[in-house]
Amino acid sequence: MNVKSAEFVKSAVKPSQYPPAILPEIAFAGRSNVGKSSLINTLIGRKRLVKTSSTPGRTRLINFFNINQNITFVDIPGYGYAKVPAALKKNWGSMIETYLSTRTTLNGVVFILDVRRTPGQAELNLLDWLDHNRISFALVLTKSDKLSKAKQKLRQALIARVLSVVDEDLILFSAKSRQGKEAVWRAITALLNLS
Ligand code: GTP
Ligand code: MG
Repeated sequence: MNVKSAEFVKSAVKPSQYPPAILPEIAFAGRSNVGKSSLINTLIGRKRLVKTSSTPGRTRLINFFNINQNITFVDIPGYGYAKVPAALKKNWGSMIETYLSTRTTLNGVVFILDVRRTPGQAELNLLDWLDHNRISFALVLTKSDKLSKAKQKLRQALIARVLSVVDEDLILFSAKSRQGKEAVWRAITALLNLS
């Protein structure tokens, strides 16, 4: 994908603040600090359009970005950060659930997992919830640069088994080495062509 333009549109917490539902949209979801914002920056070839941080839980609002004037990318705040107070966590969950279940222009979700971490119940629940709500998704295993190629393959196979998918459904990706960048773009193009 040739990205000619990428710009921040706005942040939102509730539907009245979302930009008008016009362009097809792809949302990026995953655990806090997994590398969602870094993935978006890598896809669009910008170092810092989307703020990244080594402090988990940095992205707290739903952030909308316009890509090439024809797609919207949505950076969703990460879940599962233990240090966030329970009350805030609850608001967070409903903010994300409301977005995912009501956004009419949402074409699909790129769900991002750390290649080194075995998915747990939170991940299984989220994927079940997406299925149940008929929201298509692509699966990305990020931070692959932290492992050797051989280890990457082993983790890919193990995570595929846990998620009941085939190995090829899990895209090995690194924001550092840019491994898998084209494969993620292909998966996004497939999500955009579904509807
Ligand atoms: P929140 O918005 O806080 O939920 O985090 P996020 O999922 O957007 O993660 P972010 O992109 O901010 O990255 C978190 C940390 O992981 C940063 O220190 C990044 O530099 C690092 N990181 C992200 N992707 C990669 C990767 O592919 N490889 C390596 N080695 N580090 C990465
Ligand atoms: Mg982020």
